[in-house]
Amino acid sequence: MSAASELLRIDRARSAERIRREVETLTGPAFTRSQTSICRYAYTPEYRRTLDHFTAAFEQIGYTVAEDAVGNLVAQNVPAGERVFGLGSHCDSNRNGGPWDGTLGVVVALEVCRLAAEHALELPLRAISFLEEEGSGFGQMLLGSRIAAGRVTDADLTEHVRALDDGRPFAAHAAEAGYAPDRWREASRTLDDLDGWIETHIEQARTLQDEGLALGIVETIAGYVHADVEIRGRADHAGGTPMDARVDALAVAGEVVLELERRAREAGNATVGTVGELAVEPGLINAIPGGVRLSLDVRGPDGDAVRGVVDGLVAFAEAAGARRGATVAYAERQQLAPTPMDGAIVDALAGAAAAAGVAHKRMISGAAHDTMCVADRAPTAMLFVPCRDGISHAPDESADPADAALAAEVALNALLRLRAAR
Ligand code: HGY
Ligand code: MN
Ligand code: MN
Repeated sequence: MSAASELLRIDRARSAERIRREVETLTGPAFTRSQTSICRYAYTPEYRRTLDHFTAAFEQIGYTVAEDAVGNLVAQNVPAGERVFGLGSHCDSNRNGGPWDGTLGVVVALEVCRLAAEHALELPLRAISFLEEEGSGFGQMLLGSRIAAGRVTDADLTEHVRALDDGRPFAAHAAEAGYAPDRWREASRTLDDLDGWIETHIEQARTLQDEGLALGIVETIAGYVHADVEIRGRADHAGGTPMDARVDALAVAGEVVLELERRAREAGNATVGTVGELAVEPGLINAIPGGVRLSLDVRGPDGDAVRGVVDGLVAFAEAAGARRGATVAYAERQQLAPTPMDGAIVDALAGAAAAAGVAHKRMISGAAHDTMCVADRAPTAMLFVPCRDGISHAPDESADPADAALAAEVALNALLRLRAAR
Protein backbone atom coordinates (compact mmCIF):
# COMPACT_ATOMS: atom_id res chain seq x y z
CA MET A 1 0.00 0.00 0.00
CA SER A 2 1.31 3.55 -0.70
CA ALA A 3 2.07 5.78 2.28
CA ALA A 4 -0.81 8.02 1.30
CA SER A 5 -3.27 5.13 1.29
CA GLU A 6 -2.28 4.26 4.85
CA LEU A 7 -3.60 7.65 5.89
CA LEU A 8 -6.87 8.33 7.67
CA ARG A 9 -7.91 11.65 6.21
CA ILE A 10 -9.99 14.00 8.36
CA ASP A 11 -12.19 16.95 7.45
CA ARG A 12 -9.45 19.46 8.20
CA ALA A 13 -11.70 22.51 7.87
CA ARG A 14 -14.16 21.09 10.38
CA SER A 15 -11.37 20.21 12.83
CA ALA A 16 -9.78 23.64 12.37
CA GLU A 17 -13.09 25.31 13.17
CA ARG A 18 -13.66 23.16 16.26
CA ILE A 19 -10.12 23.91 17.47
CA ARG A 20 -10.50 27.63 16.78
CA ARG A 21 -13.80 27.71 18.68
CA GLU A 22 -12.35 25.92 21.73
CA VAL A 23 -9.29 28.18 21.91
CA GLU A 24 -11.40 31.30 21.42
CA THR A 25 -13.90 30.23 24.11
CA LEU A 26 -11.05 29.87 26.60
CA THR A 27 -9.96 33.46 26.00
CA GLY A 28 -13.24 34.64 27.56
CA PRO A 29 -13.28 36.59 30.86
CA ALA A 30 -14.41 33.52 32.83
CA PHE A 31 -11.12 31.81 32.00
CA THR A 32 -8.52 34.50 32.69
CA ARG A 33 -7.64 36.75 35.65
CA SER A 34 -6.41 39.51 33.35
CA GLN A 35 -8.18 41.81 30.92
CA THR A 36 -5.06 42.15 28.77
CA SER A 37 -3.62 38.60 28.66
CA ILE A 38 -4.44 34.99 29.40
CA CYS A 39 -3.68 34.50 33.09
CA ARG A 40 -4.90 31.29 34.75
CA TYR A 41 -3.12 29.03 37.17
CA ALA A 42 -3.66 26.26 39.72
CA TYR A 43 -6.54 26.48 42.17
CA THR A 44 -7.95 29.77 40.87
CA PRO A 45 -11.61 30.07 39.81
CA GLU A 46 -10.56 30.78 36.23
CA TYR A 47 -8.45 27.62 36.12
CA ARG A 48 -11.25 25.61 37.74
CA ARG A 49 -13.67 26.80 35.04
CA THR A 50 -11.14 25.82 32.36
CA LEU A 51 -10.90 22.28 33.75
CA ASP A 52 -14.70 22.13 33.98
CA HIS A 53 -14.91 23.16 30.32
CA PHE A 54 -12.65 20.31 29.24
CA THR A 55 -14.38 17.85 31.59
CA ALA A 56 -17.74 18.57 29.97
CA ALA A 57 -16.27 18.25 26.48
CA PHE A 58 -14.64 14.89 27.18
CA GLU A 59 -17.72 13.54 28.97
CA GLN A 60 -19.78 14.55 25.95
CA ILE A 61 -17.85 11.99 23.85
CA GLY A 62 -18.17 9.31 26.48
CA TYR A 63 -14.83 9.67 28.28
CA THR A 64 -14.43 9.08 32.00
CA VAL A 65 -12.84 12.18 33.51
CA ALA A 66 -11.05 12.42 36.85
CA GLU A 67 -8.49 14.62 38.56
CA ASP A 68 -5.62 13.03 40.45
CA ALA A 69 -4.53 13.79 44.03
CA VAL A 70 -3.22 17.28 43.12
CA GLY A 71 -5.40 18.17 40.12
CA ASN A 72 -3.89 16.77 36.93
CA LEU A 73 -6.94 16.17 34.73
CA VAL A 74 -7.22 12.70 33.13
CA ALA A 75 -9.86 11.74 30.52
CA GLN A 76 -9.96 8.16 29.25
CA ASN A 77 -12.12 6.03 26.92
CA VAL A 78 -11.16 2.63 28.33
CA PRO A 79 -11.31 1.22 31.88
CA ALA A 80 -8.43 1.98 34.26
CA GLY A 81 -5.63 -0.58 33.98
CA GLU A 82 -5.90 -1.08 30.22
CA ARG A 83 -3.01 0.03 27.99
CA VAL A 84 -3.59 3.42 26.37
CA PHE A 85 -1.97 6.05 24.19
CA GLY A 86 -1.61 9.44 25.82
CA LEU A 87 -2.17 12.93 24.43
CA GLY A 88 -2.31 16.30 26.08
CA SER A 89 -0.44 19.26 27.48
CA HIS A 90 -1.42 21.96 30.03
CA CYS A 91 -4.18 24.57 30.18
CA ASP A 92 -2.71 26.86 32.79
CA SER A 93 -0.91 29.92 31.43
CA ASN A 94 2.02 32.23 31.91
CA ARG A 95 0.83 35.22 33.97
CA ASN A 96 1.15 37.36 30.84
CA GLY A 97 0.17 34.51 28.57
CA GLY A 98 -1.41 33.99 25.20
CA PRO A 99 -4.34 31.80 24.14
CA TRP A 100 -2.33 28.97 22.54
CA ASP A 101 0.57 27.98 24.84
CA GLY A 102 -0.48 24.68 26.42
CA THR A 103 -4.17 25.07 25.71
CA LEU A 104 -3.52 24.13 22.07
CA GLY A 105 -2.24 20.73 23.18
CA VAL A 106 -5.26 19.95 25.32
CA VAL A 107 -7.61 21.13 22.56
CA VAL A 108 -5.79 19.02 19.95
CA ALA A 109 -6.00 16.05 22.32
CA LEU A 110 -9.76 16.67 22.58
CA GLU A 111 -9.99 16.91 18.78
CA VAL A 112 -8.10 13.64 18.30
CA CYS A 113 -10.44 11.98 20.82
CA ARG A 114 -13.46 13.39 18.97
CA LEU A 115 -12.10 12.17 15.63
CA ALA A 116 -11.32 8.72 17.01
CA ALA A 117 -14.90 8.47 18.31
CA GLU A 118 -16.45 9.78 15.07
CA HIS A 119 -14.41 7.33 12.99
CA ALA A 120 -15.13 4.50 15.47
CA LEU A 121 -11.40 3.73 15.55
CA GLU A 122 -11.35 1.60 18.75
CA LEU A 123 -8.24 3.56 19.81
CA PRO A 124 -7.54 3.41 23.60
CA LEU A 125 -6.84 7.00 24.55
CA ARG A 126 -5.99 9.02 27.65
CA ALA A 127 -5.98 12.79 27.48
CA ILE A 128 -4.08 14.62 30.25
CA SER A 129 -3.99 18.29 31.18
CA PHE A 130 -1.15 18.81 33.64
CA LEU A 131 -1.38 21.19 36.59
CA GLU A 132 0.93 24.22 36.94
CA GLU A 133 3.12 23.69 33.87
CA GLU A 134 3.98 27.40 33.83
CA GLY A 135 4.61 27.80 37.52
CA SER A 136 2.41 30.92 37.49
CA GLY A 137 0.83 29.96 40.79
CA PHE A 138 3.80 28.58 42.74
CA GLY A 139 6.94 29.64 40.87
CA GLN A 140 7.76 26.05 39.92
CA MET A 141 7.44 24.99 36.27
CA LEU A 142 6.11 21.55 35.31
CA LEU A 143 4.85 21.06 38.87
CA GLY A 144 1.92 18.77 38.04
CA SER A 145 3.89 16.49 35.73
CA ARG A 146 6.87 16.45 38.12
CA ILE A 147 4.51 15.32 40.88
CA ALA A 148 3.09 12.60 38.62
CA ALA A 149 6.64 11.52 37.72
CA GLY A 150 7.67 11.48 41.40
CA ARG A 151 10.25 14.23 40.91
CA VAL A 152 9.27 16.12 44.07
CA THR A 153 9.47 15.44 47.82
CA ASP A 154 7.00 15.77 50.67
CA ALA A 155 8.96 18.79 51.88
CA ASP A 156 8.66 20.44 48.48
CA LEU A 157 4.87 20.34 48.66
CA THR A 158 4.45 21.08 52.35
CA GLU A 159 7.30 23.57 52.82
CA HIS A 160 9.45 24.75 49.94
CA VAL A 161 6.92 25.32 47.13
CA ARG A 162 4.80 28.32 48.06
CA ALA A 163 2.09 30.39 46.36
CA LEU A 164 3.38 33.56 44.72
CA ASP A 165 0.19 35.34 45.77
CA ASP A 166 0.22 34.65 49.50
CA GLY A 167 3.35 32.67 50.35
CA ARG A 168 1.41 29.71 51.74
CA PRO A 169 2.54 26.15 50.96
CA PHE A 170 1.36 24.27 47.87
CA ALA A 171 -0.18 21.55 50.06
CA ALA A 172 -2.40 24.06 51.86
CA HIS A 173 -3.73 25.47 48.60
CA ALA A 174 -4.24 22.01 47.10
CA ALA A 175 -6.19 20.83 50.15
CA GLU A 176 -8.35 23.97 50.13
CA ALA A 177 -9.11 23.30 46.47
CA GLY A 178 -10.43 19.88 47.45
CA TYR A 179 -7.43 17.70 46.53
CA ALA A 180 -5.37 15.30 48.66
CA PRO A 181 -1.78 16.59 48.55
CA ASP A 182 -0.75 14.18 51.32
CA ARG A 183 -1.52 11.41 48.80
CA TRP A 184 0.42 13.08 45.98
CA ARG A 185 2.33 9.84 45.24
CA GLU A 186 -0.93 8.37 43.91
CA ALA A 187 -0.65 10.85 41.05
CA SER A 188 1.89 8.44 39.54
CA ARG A 189 -1.13 6.52 38.24
CA THR A 190 -1.68 9.42 35.84
CA LEU A 191 1.31 8.06 33.89
CA ASP A 192 0.50 4.32 34.26
CA ASP A 193 -0.21 2.03 31.27
CA LEU A 194 0.98 4.47 28.60
CA ASP A 195 2.17 2.83 25.33
CA GLY A 196 3.07 6.23 23.99
CA TRP A 197 2.55 9.95 24.52
CA ILE A 198 2.27 12.83 22.05
CA GLU A 199 2.11 16.47 23.15
CA THR A 200 1.18 19.09 20.59
CA HIS A 201 2.42 22.60 21.35
CA ILE A 202 3.14 25.88 19.62
CA GLU A 203 6.83 26.17 18.72
CA GLN A 204 7.42 29.37 20.73
CA ALA A 205 10.19 30.29 18.26
CA ARG A 206 10.06 31.12 14.57
CA THR A 207 11.89 28.31 12.79
CA LEU A 208 8.77 26.75 11.27
CA GLN A 209 7.45 30.13 10.13
CA ASP A 210 10.80 31.17 8.66
CA GLU A 211 11.17 27.87 6.79
CA GLY A 212 7.54 27.78 5.65
CA LEU A 213 6.83 24.50 7.44
CA ALA A 214 3.49 23.44 8.89
CA LEU A 215 4.73 21.08 11.60
CA GLY A 216 7.79 20.34 13.70
CA ILE A 217 8.62 16.97 15.25
CA VAL A 218 10.63 17.35 18.44
CA GLU A 219 13.59 14.98 18.90
CA THR A 220 15.05 16.58 22.05
CA ILE A 221 13.71 19.00 24.66
CA ALA A 222 16.31 21.37 26.10
CA GLY A 223 17.16 20.97 29.76
CA TYR A 224 17.05 23.89 32.16
CA VAL A 225 18.18 25.25 35.50
CA HIS A 226 15.89 27.61 37.41
CA ALA A 227 17.40 29.44 40.38
CA ASP A 228 17.48 32.65 42.41
CA VAL A 229 20.47 34.82 43.27
CA GLU A 230 20.09 36.94 46.42
CA ILE A 231 22.47 39.90 46.67
CA ARG A 232 22.77 41.71 50.00
CA GLY A 233 24.36 45.18 50.05
CA ARG A 234 23.46 48.21 52.16
CA ALA A 235 20.46 50.49 51.66
CA ASP A 236 22.01 53.95 52.13
CA HIS A 237 20.98 57.46 51.23
CA ALA A 238 21.33 58.06 47.48
CA GLY A 239 22.44 61.64 47.97
CA GLY A 240 24.54 61.55 51.09
CA THR A 241 26.57 58.42 50.39
CA PRO A 242 29.80 58.96 48.41
CA MET A 243 30.34 56.57 45.47
CA ASP A 244 33.26 54.84 47.14
CA ALA A 245 31.30 54.26 50.35
CA ARG A 246 28.46 52.29 48.81
CA VAL A 247 27.46 48.62 48.82
CA ASP A 248 25.03 48.80 45.93
CA ALA A 249 23.31 45.42 45.45
CA LEU A 250 21.81 46.46 42.12
CA ALA A 251 25.21 47.37 40.70
CA VAL A 252 26.31 43.77 41.44
CA ALA A 253 23.10 42.49 39.84
CA GLY A 254 23.79 44.57 36.74
CA GLU A 255 27.20 42.96 36.31
CA VAL A 256 25.62 39.50 36.77
CA VAL A 257 22.91 40.10 34.14
CA LEU A 258 25.44 41.14 31.50
CA GLU A 259 27.81 38.28 32.44
CA LEU A 260 24.98 35.75 32.03
CA GLU A 261 24.33 37.08 28.54
CA ARG A 262 28.04 36.85 27.68
CA ARG A 263 28.48 33.32 29.07
CA ALA A 264 25.34 31.97 27.38
CA ARG A 265 26.49 33.35 24.04
CA GLU A 266 29.99 31.96 24.63
CA ALA A 267 28.63 28.48 25.49
CA GLY A 268 26.95 28.24 22.06
CA ASN A 269 25.12 24.99 21.15
CA ALA A 270 21.73 26.71 21.53
CA THR A 271 22.45 27.58 25.18
CA VAL A 272 20.36 30.51 26.41
CA GLY A 273 20.26 32.50 29.64
CA THR A 274 17.63 34.88 30.97
CA VAL A 275 17.10 37.01 34.04
CA GLY A 276 13.33 37.47 33.96
CA GLU A 277 12.63 38.47 37.56
CA LEU A 278 14.39 41.32 39.37
CA ALA A 279 13.22 42.39 42.82
CA VAL A 280 14.94 45.48 44.26
CA GLU A 281 14.75 46.57 47.91
CA PRO A 282 13.78 49.12 49.02
CA GLY A 283 13.10 50.10 45.40
CA LEU A 284 13.03 53.86 46.03
CA ILE A 285 14.44 56.57 43.81
CA ASN A 286 16.52 58.09 46.60
CA ALA A 287 17.79 54.92 48.32
CA ILE A 288 20.74 52.80 47.27
CA PRO A 289 19.48 49.23 46.68
CA GLY A 290 20.34 47.16 49.73
CA GLY A 291 18.94 43.89 48.43
CA VAL A 292 18.25 42.32 45.05
CA ARG A 293 16.80 38.98 44.08
CA LEU A 294 17.24 37.98 40.46
CA SER A 295 15.98 34.80 38.81
CA LEU A 296 18.13 32.62 36.55
CA ASP A 297 16.71 30.62 33.64
CA VAL A 298 19.51 28.81 31.80
CA ARG A 299 18.62 26.24 29.14
CA GLY A 300 20.02 24.19 26.32
CA PRO A 301 20.21 20.75 24.72
CA ASP A 302 23.74 20.29 26.12
CA GLY A 303 23.40 19.69 29.86
CA ASP A 304 27.12 20.20 30.52
CA ALA A 305 27.07 23.57 28.76
CA VAL A 306 24.06 24.66 30.82
CA ARG A 307 25.65 23.56 34.09
CA GLY A 308 28.91 25.25 33.07
CA VAL A 309 27.15 28.57 32.51
CA VAL A 310 25.35 28.36 35.86
CA ASP A 311 28.37 27.33 37.92
CA GLY A 312 30.61 29.91 36.24
CA LEU A 313 28.05 32.65 36.77
CA VAL A 314 27.66 31.86 40.47
CA ALA A 315 31.41 32.15 40.96
CA PHE A 316 31.40 35.43 39.00
CA ALA A 317 28.51 36.80 41.10
CA GLU A 318 30.27 35.94 44.36
CA ALA A 319 33.44 37.70 43.19
CA ALA A 320 31.50 40.73 41.92
CA GLY A 321 29.72 40.94 45.26
CA ALA A 322 32.96 40.63 47.21
CA ARG A 323 34.51 43.48 45.18
CA ARG A 324 31.73 45.74 46.44
CA GLY A 325 31.38 44.32 49.94
CA ALA A 326 28.06 42.61 49.17
CA THR A 327 27.11 39.01 49.91
CA VAL A 328 25.69 36.67 47.26
CA ALA A 329 23.57 33.56 47.88
CA TYR A 330 22.48 31.08 45.19
CA ALA A 331 19.36 28.94 45.59
CA GLU A 332 18.31 26.46 42.90
CA ARG A 333 14.54 26.06 42.36
CA GLN A 334 14.79 23.07 40.07
CA GLN A 335 16.66 21.60 37.15
CA LEU A 336 15.64 19.15 34.42
CA ALA A 337 18.09 17.41 32.11
CA PRO A 338 17.81 17.63 28.31
CA THR A 339 15.24 14.99 27.34
CA PRO A 340 15.53 12.89 24.16
CA MET A 341 12.26 11.82 22.56
CA ASP A 342 11.47 8.22 21.65
CA GLY A 343 12.59 7.22 18.15
CA ALA A 344 9.55 5.05 17.41
CA ILE A 345 7.12 7.82 18.33
CA VAL A 346 9.15 10.38 16.37
CA ASP A 347 9.22 8.07 13.34
CA ALA A 348 5.47 7.41 13.59
CA LEU A 349 4.83 11.15 13.56
CA ALA A 350 7.24 11.72 10.68
CA GLY A 351 5.67 8.88 8.70
CA ALA A 352 2.18 10.22 9.31
CA ALA A 353 3.25 13.76 8.35
CA ALA A 354 4.87 12.52 5.15
CA ALA A 355 1.82 10.44 4.26
CA ALA A 356 -0.37 13.50 4.81
CA GLY A 357 1.91 15.57 2.59
CA VAL A 358 2.62 17.97 5.45
CA ALA A 359 5.90 19.94 5.22
CA HIS A 360 7.68 19.25 8.50
CA LYS A 361 11.13 19.00 10.12
CA ARG A 362 12.71 17.28 13.11
CA MET A 363 13.91 19.79 15.67
CA ILE A 364 14.89 20.69 19.23
CA SER A 365 12.53 22.35 21.69
CA GLY A 366 14.11 25.29 23.52
CA ALA A 367 11.02 25.55 25.72
CA ALA A 368 10.32 23.07 28.48
CA HIS A 369 7.27 20.82 28.41
CA ASP A 370 5.46 18.30 30.59
CA THR A 371 6.60 15.69 28.08
CA MET A 372 10.00 15.84 29.84
CA CYS A 373 8.38 14.21 32.87
CA VAL A 374 6.11 11.85 30.94
CA ALA A 375 9.29 10.57 29.29
CA ASP A 376 10.26 9.02 32.65
CA ARG A 377 7.35 6.61 32.26
CA ALA A 378 6.48 6.26 28.57
CA PRO A 379 7.83 6.62 25.03
CA THR A 380 7.16 10.24 24.12
CA ALA A 381 7.44 12.82 21.35
CA MET A 382 6.05 16.24 20.52
CA LEU A 383 4.45 17.97 17.58
CA PHE A 384 5.12 21.67 17.06
CA VAL A 385 2.70 24.05 15.37
CA PRO A 386 4.02 27.41 14.10
CA CYS A 387 3.13 30.51 16.11
CA ARG A 388 3.26 33.93 14.48
CA ASP A 389 6.75 35.43 14.62
CA GLY A 390 7.57 32.99 17.44
CA ILE A 391 5.73 35.22 19.92
CA SER A 392 4.75 33.42 23.14
CA HIS A 393 4.40 34.17 26.86
CA ALA A 394 2.76 37.34 25.59
CA PRO A 395 -0.88 38.19 24.78
CA ASP A 396 -0.02 38.67 21.07
CA GLU A 397 0.70 34.96 20.74
CA SER A 398 -1.22 33.50 17.82
CA ALA A 399 -1.37 30.34 15.72
CA ASP A 400 -3.41 29.10 12.75
CA PRO A 401 -6.18 26.60 13.56
CA ALA A 402 -5.54 25.02 10.16
CA ASP A 403 -2.04 24.05 11.31
CA ALA A 404 -3.51 22.70 14.54
CA ALA A 405 -5.92 20.57 12.49
CA LEU A 406 -2.97 19.17 10.55
CA ALA A 407 -1.36 18.30 13.87
CA ALA A 408 -4.53 16.50 14.96
CA GLU A 409 -4.59 14.47 11.72
CA VAL A 410 -0.90 13.61 12.00
CA ALA A 411 -1.12 12.70 15.70
CA LEU A 412 -4.16 10.48 15.03
CA ASN A 413 -2.43 8.68 12.18
CA ALA A 414 0.75 8.29 14.20
CA LEU A 415 -1.26 6.60 16.94
CA LEU A 416 -2.89 4.30 14.39
CA ARG A 417 0.60 3.36 13.16
CA LEU A 418 1.77 2.74 16.73
CA ARG A 419 -1.27 0.60 17.46
CA ALA A 420 -0.65 -1.43 14.30
CA ALA A 421 2.95 -1.94 15.41
CA ARG A 422 1.98 -3.26 18.89
O1 HGY B 1 9.05 28.25 30.11
C1 HGY B 1 8.78 27.20 29.53
O2 HGY B 1 9.61 26.55 28.96
C2 HGY B 1 7.35 26.73 29.51
O3 HGY B 1 6.65 27.53 28.63
N1 HGY B 1 6.76 26.76 30.80
MN1 MN C 1 3.56 25.40 27.38
MN1 MN D 1 4.77 28.36 28.44
